[in-house]
Amino acid sequence: MTTMNHKGDFPIYETHPGMVYLDHAATSHKPDIVTRRTESYYKTSNSSPHRGAYLLSVKSTELYDRGRKEVLDFLGADERYSTVFTKNATEALNLIAQTHVMENVKAGDEICVSIDAHHSVIVPLQLVAKRKGAILKYLYLDRTGTFENDAITAKTKILALPWISNGLGKIHDVKALLKRAHDVGAVVILDGAQAIGHIPIDFAELDVDFFTFSGHKMYAPQGIGGLVAKKELLEAMPPFLTGGDMIEYVTEQTTTYAGVPERFEAGTQNVAGVVGLMAAIDYIKSYGLTKIHEHEMALTSYALEKLKALPFIEIYGPEDISKRGALITFNVEGIHPHDVASLLDEKWVSIRAGHHCTQPLMKHLELSASCRVSYGFYNTIEDIDKFVDAVKYAREVFGYVDVY
Ligand SMILES: Cc1ncc(COP(=O)(O)O)c(C=O)c1O
Repeated sequence: MTTMNHKGDFPIYETHPGMVYLDHAATSHKPDIVTRRTESYYKTSNSSPHRGAYLLSVKSTELYDRGRKEVLDFLGADERYSTVFTKNATEALNLIAQTHVMENVKAGDEICVSIDAHHSVIVPLQLVAKRKGAILKYLYLDRTGTFENDAITAKTKILALPWISNGLGKIHDVKALLKRAHDVGAVVILDGAQAIGHIPIDFAELDVDFFTFSGHKMYAPQGIGGLVAKKELLEAMPPFLTGGDMIEYVTEQTTTYAGVPERFEAGTQNVAGVVGLMAAIDYIKSYGLTKIHEHEMALTSYALEKLKALPFIEIYGPEDISKRGALITFNVEGIHPHDVASLLDEKWVSIRAGHHCTQPLMKHLELSASCRVSYGFYNTIEDIDKFVDAVKYAREVFGYVDVY
């Protein structure tokens, strides 16, 4: 059984030593190296990047630009790709919708979305589809995360899906889906929010078009995220937000824009966030994604075994452990997910309950809500035991006498 335990790396456990934090899919805690390097940036190098000729501004610019390269290296993306920094995955997904999709989709074209996509994928695409008269179609999944239909057709211009579903925990077969979409000439938006920092990612093995992520889910500070995309796609895209820094030349009536990726980064950028993101990447690399993924799979396997032993639990997502990310969604018979989460909180176990920003998925699965446990590699087998004991406690509070 896995013995990894790196809670000592996370200062939050000094303040809350007894906490069992299992809401990692929402946001991760920050290791010491991330908070220290971010603080150090503000103490030693703080300044506005790209604007000044003086020492600190040059330093900020260097750090910021180094961040782009480190993200690409982390994902195994070569010189065909570029990193655009955004404040989170949501902003990156809106950027793609309002630029690439808006420019390239015409009335009657189809946008195909996996039903387990997060609202941050679905809502921006809905807006564009409506404006352009495009047709939004869905790839449906059942409660085990198995696709029920094939909505990709010769008219599909965009396929959008999460690499790992935050509502079902499924790791999609992105290689096969990318190929399927590319065969009909579609461009793929891969939402990597639940994949980055959890599973080894190697762009060299895939033909990724757009990949989006949030730093705060991978141990980096809140307020930094990004879009990694093929330069050829970015170069053909108009700007998203406009203002300072993203221009080449502005006259009274017209503007020419900066090249890629600066064209998509209007205003003063979050250099401290990029510094924190680089620290998070170093932190993840120091343990290695293969080890991290192995540990998280061991936690999933253990948690599934424990939950399956409880006859009052319904679990969602794939049976096959190799198709599961670091999260499990489930329901407890007789108790609303919000009550489950509140009762677990009494035992200092933090989990998420609700629709997980996947209302279309929930509606399709005929669920109003579910509970979700999601872990980072600093979680332990003991955390899972405490979580399962707390679920049993919730049933007791609701008056059930369970025999198992
Ligand atoms: C799969 C997925 N995509 C996108 C997002 C949006 O992330 P953010 O709120 O950081 O923009 C989330 C957040 O939970 C998510 O789980």
